[in-house]
Amino acid sequence: MHPFVFSILLCFVAIARFLNCSALAEMITCSGIVPMRYRNDKISITDFGGIGDGRTLNTKAFRAAIYRIEHLRRRGGTLLYIPPGVYLTGSFKLTSHMTLYLAWGAVIKATQDTRNWPLIAPLPSYGRGRERPGERYMSFIHGDGLHDVIITGENGTIDGQGDVWWNMWWQRTLQFTRPNLIEFMNSRGIIISNVIFKNSPFWNIHPVYCSNVVIRYVTILAPPHSPNTDGIDPDSSSHVCIEDLYISTGDDLIAVKSGWDEYGIAYGRPSNGITIRRITGSSPFSGIAVGSETSGGIENVLAEHINLYNMGVGIHLKTNIGRGGVIKNITVSNCVYGKCEEGYKDCRRCWRSSR
Ligand SMILES: *[C@@H]1O[C@H](CO)[C@@H](O)[C@H](O)[C@H]1NC(C)=O
Ligand SMILES: *[C@@H]1O[C@H](CO)[C@@H](O)[C@H](O)[C@H]1NC(C)=O
Repeated sequence: MHPFVFSILLCFVAIARFLNCSALAEMITCSGIVPMRYRNDKISITDFGGIGDGRTLNTKAFRAAIYRIEHLRRRGGTLLYIPPGVYLTGSFKLTSHMTLYLAWGAVIKATQDTRNWPLIAPLPSYGRGRERPGERYMSFIHGDGLHDVIITGENGTIDGQGDVWWNMWWQRTLQFTRPNLIEFMNSRGIIISNVIFKNSPFWNIHPVYCSNVVIRYVTILAPPHSPNTDGIDPDSSSHVCIEDLYISTGDDLIAVKSGWDEYGIAYGRPSNGITIRRITGSSPFSGIAVGSETSGGIENVLAEHINLYNMGVGIHLKTNIGRGGVIKNITVSNCVYGKCEEGYKDCRRCWRSSR
């Protein structure tokens, strides 16, 4: 087994609690890696027959609006406006040069009709679905090979209505791996800000094989008992900026990954340059995790001003034996823990810190 090299800086409970660390750090941000863009061309989902009554299925409206953006290719891209209301829809794919804008009171709600949910190929760095062999369900909102995509607005909600999927997991009736709430593959120049994510079927936000991704001012919520509802999983991705978030879910709040086992090793795509700053949250599992999927390697991760309460483990390096990959240069500082079972843990050497 390759020896793991990491430098850890942990500052614990008492001192940090009296220093207002977040106030001092307020000016520091990595979000400049993707500039926010203003778009002149604007359309509304209602122009495409969208009805926000919570009952009408709007899959056709979403697909038609995005088809229009993709094919008319307006200079500077197009903003798709979602007005207040509850828009039930099946999963849909985004396109480049678009902004998905959720107004205050707008909810994009996933249909619970799982039978017609599209399937896609497994990720090459996983070789199979994460939960079940073979294909996997496409994420509710999906992007592959895109650039210049913004999801923002006035804190509208993207609701996965995940309980039907959690039930299938509990009852062991899942045929394929559950869908993420949102996944970007092979994409760059992505901003997700001022949105609330709720009740994901599986992981919430999954950037995989991506670069230059900013996730800021986002709230992610799922019940503590919901299975595998990780908040954000940067996976084989580089230059990811995650700041100013509140996350409370049933699994890890943020888990940096890079594929698993022989598939991840063969694919060889590391996660590199991940900044995680000013995160508040709670979960029965880990606050900030590295792994356990580490096969492509993980390096240069900075996590600071992390405020956790009612947590399982604060910082968790999940160095599973046999998974391979090198974990290098992980820096964690200014963590405040209230009611954590363990402050820091790695699989080879575990120690308990103060509660
Ligand atoms: C949206 O939520 C963020 C916190 O995530 C907050 O800073 C911002 O002021 C809110 N915006 C609106 C328009 O309510
Ligand atoms: C370690 O990672 C930090 C970012 O977290 C980066 O600024 C620094 O240059 C890295 N150090 C080395 C030796 O690569």
